[in-house]
Amino acid sequence: MNCKVLNNGVKIPEIGLGVFRVQEEDTENVVKWAIDAGYRHIDTASVYENEQAVGKAIKESGVNREDLFVTTKIWNSDIRQNRVKEAFDESLERLGMDYVDMCLIHWPVENSEIAYKQMEELYTAGKIKAIGVSNFQKHHMKELEKHITVLPTVNQIESNPRFANQELIDWCFSKGIAVEAYSPLGGSIDNNILNNHVLSAIAEKYNKCVAQIVIRWHLQRGLIVLPKSIHQDRIIQNIDVYDFSLNDEEMDKINSLDLNIRTGSDPDHFDF
Ligand code: A2P
Repeated sequence: MNCKVLNNGVKIPEIGLGVFRVQEEDTENVVKWAIDAGYRHIDTASVYENEQAVGKAIKESGVNREDLFVTTKIWNSDIRQNRVKEAFDESLERLGMDYVDMCLIHWPVENSEIAYKQMEELYTAGKIKAIGVSNFQKHHMKELEKHITVLPTVNQIESNPRFANQELIDWCFSKGIAVEAYSPLGGSIDNNILNNHVLSAIAEKYNKCVAQIVIRWHLQRGLIVLPKSIHQDRIIQNIDVYDFSLNDEEMDKINSLDLNIRTGSDPDHFDF
């Protein structure tokens, strides 16, 4: 699995398995299949309520902990209640781990700067190898910058062919902040990207499926990609993207599918 190097020198596998909305009872299998297929990066969050199953699958996988990259996230209510360290310890407990590779502020809620500073302390203590944010717009990042010492390593945001989010990505890159794409295949609600005829034509040319074309598009844009699936064959497909590359014309065609329509919540207007 190819890796990227984050701005603090930590290496991160550029494709990770996302487990948002994966039920606790399915998570163990899904993570095991992924590790068997060659994934070394799992992205969870306390609010997904499946950290325990992620930890169990990892423990039973037989792969050394230091060869895996595990991300979790601090949930909004814990940030609002100023209980970041407690919430983080609870995540570690559920994962059955004594550190995580990455921990993110899940959403830009009030008190995020304070929460981030507490993550900085956990980072200094070696309990988190890389800290970052998720769902931060440029103005959230700029506000955060005023208060913090350690530059975020990543911003995890929605990006897919229907909502490329390119301006924010370019801005993060200009700051040395890596970008992780969630809902990279268009998310699970009203997903018509995977039936798109432009993508289907490119897929046919390379004898690949549309999801593989979209994942390749993300990688060639320089992103870390977090596709999710509860099906073993798709989990295997989603990292089988290293035997072809898209040309400039194909990249442009996919770029032109951008409708600026999100599948997920808007970081400037959310109520949770
Ligand atoms: P499923 O779990 O039923 O396989 P994302 O949220 O990562 O953008 O993905 C959106 C949906 O695309 C997922 O919920 C998943 O549904 C589906 N999916 C993932 N990988 C593939 C694939 N290789 N081919 C078709 N659909 C896929």
